[in-house]
Amino acid sequence: MSDDRLIVALDVPNALAGLDLAEKLGDAVSFYKIGLGMLTGGGLALANELKQELGKRIFLDMKLFDIGATVEAAVRGLAQYELDFLTVHGDPYVVRAAKEGAANSNTKILAVTILTSLDRSDLDGALIKDGKVSDLVVERAGRAFDAGADGVICSPNEAALIRALPEADGRLIVTPGVRPEGADLGDQKRVATPANAVRNGVDHIVVGRPVWKAVDPRAAAQAITKEMQRAIQLDT
Ligand code: C5P
Repeated sequence: MSDDRLIVALDVPNALAGLDLAEKLGDAVSFYKIGLGMLTGGGLALANELKQELGKRIFLDMKLFDIGATVEAAVRGLAQYELDFLTVHGDPYVVRAAKEGAANSNTKILAVTILTSLDRSDLDGALIKDGKVSDLVVERAGRAFDAGADGVICSPNEAALIRALPEADGRLIVTPGVRPEGADLGDQKRVATPANAVRNGVDHIVVGRPVWKAVDPRAAAQAITKEMQRAIQLDT
């Protein structure tokens, strides 16, 4: 049976391939992430179909970043798709605008702290202030929560520090960069297993390639779910 702590990233080229994968996964997965790569391949139509026809939960990963008025208008339009989660960059004015746009919907706004693909030299290039990346991630998470974010996206390695913030009470922590024991890392560098991610206080893990590239995607998703559930049972 599915567990909506697992969000499967549908990083396949188009809506048809996404629907095909969702059919293979069946009731093993109840929550899907659709990202920018699928936008021109029918991503919004797929979001609608998965939500309305198959009853799945949807995370639309748009990482919006613009002037406040534009973010607010974009979120207001996207919220009509009855999305469960929508991402914006974690700058406080962007988060506040997104929350305005989502005001009459159930869409939760998740703030990207610092992209996990960036290191200190990338931040120097972008003129972002000195300091350890993990410290900046925690500081940005706190500010995003203060601005009203329903949750944040961060690496599993920062999840425990963010969970410990008083502002994180009742907010969501969602992490990509999750790899089952022995799985191919791909381009992910700072990874954790599904068990360690949930132990660090993560509410949802986002997993892509270990599921959709698997010979048997349904079995792969079920194994991840089992690993998370076992970790939680062992801790309680
Ligand atoms: O295939 P994999 O499990 O690495 O996919 C992770 C998903 O999470 C991808 O859709 C990727 O774009 C997304 N993501 C990420 N790191 C971030 C933000 C999003 O891996 N910092």
